[in-house]
Amino acid sequence: MSPRRLAAGNWKMNGDLAALTQIDALCDAFPDPGCDILICPPALLIHPVKGRIGAHPIALGGQDCHTRSSGAHTGDISAVQLKDVGADYVIVGHSERRADHGETDDDIAAKAAAAHEADLIAIICVGETEAQRDSGQTLEVIETQLAGSVPPGATALNTVIAYEPVWAIGSGRTPTKDQIAEVHGRIRAVLAQRIRDAADLRLLYGGSVKPSNAAEIFAIADVDGALVGGASLKADDFGAIIRAL
Ligand code: G3H
Repeated sequence: MSPRRLAAGNWKMNGDLAALTQIDALCDAFPDPGCDILICPPALLIHPVKGRIGAHPIALGGQDCHTRSSGAHTGDISAVQLKDVGADYVIVGHSERRADHGETDDDIAAKAAAAHEADLIAIICVGETEAQRDSGQTLEVIETQLAGSVPPGATALNTVIAYEPVWAIGSGRTPTKDQIAEVHGRIRAVLAQRIRDAADLRLLYGGSVKPSNAAEIFAIADVDGALVGGASLKADDFGAIIRAL
């Protein structure tokens, strides 16, 4: 049986208290969703969004976490703190964190392990740059990132992998169906060598997913959902993507 599909919205550094109306609209539109729906708002909005969701099954996630559970780390947020305010997931290793904060595969593995320790599902992001794709290094880059950033103890229950080609993020460009299928197939095969239940581990595609291309992307083998940026900010757009799952 295929894993339950996941539509994950990453609001990045967007959204404010007024954006809670988008959450209301999503709850109204999907009273009994047929897939898992996840919103990863900025950390300071997780608690108010949780209050707004109430008993609705929409899940919440952070966009990053520290490797430690607490301590003198000004400006950081721990996985334990995310769990405390109602998160069930955390994104780690997003390419914007890798680029803006110099995060390495080792850092990401430690963050994912901290997430697991806090009983959060880690969404570990991997993806090649345009230069790496152009020079034929895509699969090698993905394999290196997986080897370095997926921690021991990862299972289908506590881990999701998001394939996000860096050049597709926010650009309106997407890989071809064959390119997505090739990378997702390789990710599944690599994970199968070290994770017993890899067949059940959800693989998300991310990068310019929109209502207009979602159905086509979701029909690709080994795509179990999406990590959506810009199109997750409006309930109408994100709702259309969820319906395509
Ligand atoms: O985390 C989400 C991804 O970076 C995709 O962003 O849908 O705006 O291209 P995008």
